[in-house]
Amino acid sequence: MKSIVYQKFGTTDVLQIVEEPKPTIKADQVLVKVKVFSVNPMDWKIRKGEMTLMSGSKFPKHTGTDFAGIVEEIGTSVSGFKIGDEVFGIVKNMMKEGVSAEYVAVPSSLIWKKPFNISFAQAASIPVVGTAAVSALEKMGSINAQTSILVNGASGGFGMFLLQLLKQRNANVTAVTSSKGIEPAKKWGANSVIDYTREDVLSHKATYDVVIDLSGKMGYKVARQIMKPRSIFLNPTPRPIEIPVSFFKNLFTAKKHIVIISSPSAKYTDILLNAIENGIEIEINKVFPFAQYREAYQYAERGGYIGKVAVEIN
Ligand SMILES: NC(=O)c1ccc[n+]([C@@H]2O[C@H](COP(=O)([O-])OP(=O)(O)OC[C@H]3O[C@@H](n4cnc5c(N)ncnc54)[C@H](OP(=O)(O)O)[C@@H]3O)[C@@H](O)[C@H]2O)c1
Repeated sequence: MKSIVYQKFGTTDVLQIVEEPKPTIKADQVLVKVKVFSVNPMDWKIRKGEMTLMSGSKFPKHTGTDFAGIVEEIGTSVSGFKIGDEVFGIVKNMMKEGVSAEYVAVPSSLIWKKPFNISFAQAASIPVVGTAAVSALEKMGSINAQTSILVNGASGGFGMFLLQLLKQRNANVTAVTSSKGIEPAKKWGANSVIDYTREDVLSHKATYDVVIDLSGKMGYKVARQIMKPRSIFLNPTPRPIEIPVSFFKNLFTAKKHIVIISSPSAKYTDILLNAIENGIEIEINKVFPFAQYREAYQYAERGGYIGKVAVEIN
């Protein structure tokens, strides 16, 4: 089968298509013929060697984390799926495995039936950012119309799910996006939007119960200036050192710094599937053909798009 791999850390130049044997499955696994995989910032952070503490430095490495496709083979202990089912899913070890190939073997606990009313690209876009958005929601605790939330970097995949989940809970949300993101953020439920290319969010002087930074550019030190006395900063892009440091500092401050490290979970996916049934939209900005996998990553890494980018494997 064809598979995208890399043999050293670097730019998209290190990515190449190679021939590999089709994976064999264990008793608890299914073999999925991948139709689409989604592109996530984590893919290029790992590829550039920015996450070696978790990803390790062993090569070759595969890329891509979440996917949608068709069940081709079923392990002997698997129930609930049959050959031909349309499914979406995620690899077990996001740091060390990849789905950028014609076939992927995954535990049946990490695939779900694709809702009939969404496309393969939309389904492939659910697990990483959708799960992270539910995880963020859980960390926010109880939310109501009085809860003021700032979502910094709201127009990518994570923001798309988070804004809509928050809307379903009536939160009072301010989104920060570039000019292109203003209308989508409003459509997804933001009560107000700040265009970061024109205004500094700090100049607004407003304070929030929750600040979440999806841009990876704000950081706790800056966020503190716009946090209410008892509030939380959610950080899905922590530097490794911030994980223990935030834990200890939180014992002594009412402005908490909470790190998000989401992992694939049936509980979170069920919440998402329910939210999708209740109207969450999954906006796919662009689907690239397999042969243009490098362009797909270059495009996503440049930013400036709304929603998700995906790669289709024929
Ligand atoms: N910890 C976890 O479990 C977990 C899970 C999923 C994702 N993540 C991380 O969460 C982050 C968001 O994920 P994503 O998939 O939504 O990424 P994304 O699609 O790249 O979205 C990032 C957003 O930040 C915006 N942005 C860039 N510069 C900004 C600035 N200076 N001020 C405000 N906004 C700015 C971008 O807008 P423009 O492109 O218009 O500039 C874009 O909308 C990524 O870093 C990802 O790695 C973490």
